[in-house]
Amino acid sequence: CGTSWHAGLIGKYLIEEYAGIPVHVEYASEFRYRKPIIDSNTVVVGISQSGETADTLAAIEKAKNVGALTLGIVNVVGSSIARETDCGIYMHAGPEIGVASTKAFTSQVSIMILMGLFIAQNKNKKKCYQIATQLKEVPKLINKILTLDDEIYEISKKFTEVNNFLYLGRGYQFPVALEGALKLKEISYIHAEGYPAAEMKHGPIALIDENMPIIVIATKKGHYEKVVSNIQEIKSRKGKIIGIVTEGDKQVKELADHVIEVPEAPEALSPLLTTIPLQLLSYHIAVLLGKNVDQPRNLAKSVTVE
Ligand code: AGP
Repeated sequence: CGTSWHAGLIGKYLIEEYAGIPVHVEYASEFRYRKPIIDSNTVVVGISQSGETADTLAAIEKAKNVGALTLGIVNVVGSSIARETDCGIYMHAGPEIGVASTKAFTSQVSIMILMGLFIAQNKNKKKCYQIATQLKEVPKLINKILTLDDEIYEISKKFTEVNNFLYLGRGYQFPVALEGALKLKEISYIHAEGYPAAEMKHGPIALIDENMPIIVIATKKGHYEKVVSNIQEIKSRKGKIIGIVTEGDKQVKELADHVIEVPEAPEALSPLLTTIPLQLLSYHIAVLLGKNVDQPRNLAKSVTVE
């Protein structure tokens, strides 16, 4: 599903950056009906909270048929994907009650990071060790972000009347933008689109006016200056800017209507932090609108049909 695909993208960025191994991230529903170039030298990783998604199972079967090694990253112990794959990693995130994945997503991202570091360790020992050490600090940093809940609630109150949201991010923050937009759609039913920040000028910029809220993930590491210049373009078109920034940021604060600060972290770990305020924002907007955040309409926790 989309959430797993977003986690997969973060894994791709990390494995390619530190291990130098090419990774392709695909929706299982597309992969199963294409003629993907895979063989017995390929590792195919199926990511799924429920472990029951029909498309993911079919994609795994397709990979097994050509002799690829299949690996499952699933939350539900003993689920079909866990049983069908050659090997795997359980998320052990605990039962996820809400249909829209939150802890399963951060858990998938954590596993992608650990897996990437494991694969890259021989090539990039020092850096991998450094990131792994800092990964241990992430729960503490997330707790710090959770103390901003009241602040995020106040921001949410200002956006219950809007019909659209745009989420922008670059590099490791691009999948976070996609995930943030998906979460808002799923539980508040407000239309939201995630986009690579630099692509804004190739289309979405046409949507920007004083009625369009735009969440921009503009953390210090990565492509900060370029994202700031996107924010300037949004500002000159009167878009309402909510910046997700690194603690102590000054530049974005001057331009944005609202900012939510997250602690500084290595770029590869920062999605674990920037995701949290976006999940909280979706949650508060949905609750303020009177929606059922655990059981959104038309959605199911496990999608066992095509
Ligand atoms: C993410 O928020 C999804 N909508 C997820 O909760 C949903 O239940 C999904 O379609 C199931 O996919 P998965 O079990 O393969 O992750």
